[in-house]
Amino acid sequence: MSQTNKNKLSDLFSGFSKLNYNERLKALNDVGLINDGEQNYLKSGGLQDISLAEKFVENVIGYFQLPLGVATNFNIDGQDYLIPMAVEETSIIAAASKTAKWVRENGSIHAEIKGKEIIGQIQFAKVKNFEAFEKAILQQKNYLIEIANREVAFGLVNRGGGVTDLQIRKLVRDDGYSMAVIHILMDPCDAMGANIMNQVCEYLKEPLQTFTGEKVTMCILSNLVDTKLTCVEVVLNKIDPELAEKIEEASLFAELDSYRAATNNKGVLNGIDPILIATGNDWRAVEAGIHAYASRDGQYRSVTRWRKDGPRLIGRFEAPIIVGTVGGVTTLHPSAKLAMKILGVNSSNDLAKVIGAVGLVQNLGALRALTTVGIIEGHMKLHIKNLSLGAGATEKEMPFVVKQLEEILALRKRISLSNAIDVLNELRKQTNH
Ligand code: HMG
Repeated sequence: MSQTNKNKLSDLFSGFSKLNYNERLKALNDVGLINDGEQNYLKSGGLQDISLAEKFVENVIGYFQLPLGVATNFNIDGQDYLIPMAVEETSIIAAASKTAKWVRENGSIHAEIKGKEIIGQIQFAKVKNFEAFEKAILQQKNYLIEIANREVAFGLVNRGGGVTDLQIRKLVRDDGYSMAVIHILMDPCDAMGANIMNQVCEYLKEPLQTFTGEKVTMCILSNLVDTKLTCVEVVLNKIDPELAEKIEEASLFAELDSYRAATNNKGVLNGIDPILIATGNDWRAVEAGIHAYASRDGQYRSVTRWRKDGPRLIGRFEAPIIVGTVGGVTTLHPSAKLAMKILGVNSSNDLAKVIGAVGLVQNLGALRALTTVGIIEGHMKLHIKNLSLGAGATEKEMPFVVKQLEEILALRKRISLSNAIDVLNELRKQTNH
């Protein structure tokens, strides 16, 4: 997207949440985020061509459609972003937009990537002589890196990446044998890198066995990529000190207690997964990596941390977010391509930074709600249409049921599907349905 259009995003943000569906699409078209063809594609329900599905997965019987929304108000390192999010849960996109607005008006978001290599693992389950094994590999290390780059990762090397290192680890077994694992470190450039890493590991299997006289058991990439971390900082410059303190206390809870950490991190992933899905990235890999990183000291902890700093509140997120902007579904699925266009990022590092930033902001939104009015009020306010639909309300009945449920929620501070069913039954009784 051109810089001019990026600059226009701030105009798009204001009032966007009040637009209807057609107006939203027109607004995106007006700032050049989508063209007429893409607008029609979205209106017609997205991808229909089943032959593409046949190329992606096996035993295809159709497509599964998730809602695609956009979160507004994000400014990351001085750049505005409209965030495409594919997700089924009410209030995530609203909360992200609302919290991003708070930060935009009163603070900043900074993101960076620390490290650049992903990890592949080659396992030798039972090594007869670990010292000899280690010595043999160290002697051949440069050669092994060279052939991996020459024979397999040459495309990455041409783009400035490729295999950079090979490390040896010894794992303790309780049956007296030594297990050895070789870590292959590789810069995947803008690819997620799974396929190429697995090919590098499998290619190195034979030479490694020849040089060491030991037997490879298996090889595969690792999703715990602590060698390439996405780090985000959110600073709120002025905040009610009482609220800042409550958010810090809520953060401490998730840092100390695994039961709370799991839910805290689910809230962070509320912001992360929808972008991964919308951009066609492997959300299972990122989820696994984040959870493993959250447990790196032996206890599962939060991947975010909030602290008061004088009048300021500072939040930090740190975890691996390994994504690609080339290869895979990202460049093949028309909806993922469109999401990438709307997002306006090209490099995998920029995509990871945006994803981490949305995760941290999403966490802030949830913590603010949890430590003030509670999660029910905002979440259920937006969930009412869902409940009405679940109760079986028709388009015509919907406005009445929604209004009644809003009143019940305001009065009782809680609401359920049975309320929706009761309201609908009452309406039908009155109208002799
Ligand atoms: P509100 O203040 O009642 O909403 O908040 P509002 O109507 O005053 O609007 C404020 C802004 O919110 C709007 O600004 C929008 O940006 C956005 P404006 O555009 O008007 O300038 N917004 C919307 N955007 C699009 N469509 C809408 C819409 N409504 C508001 N319909 C809100 C309502 C839900 C945002 C708030 O209560 C909130 O942030 N709640 C938190 C909700 C949340 O975190 N949901 C995630 C699911 S819960 C969960 O799974 C995670 C959890 O377990 C994690 C954890 O434990 O840590 C909680």
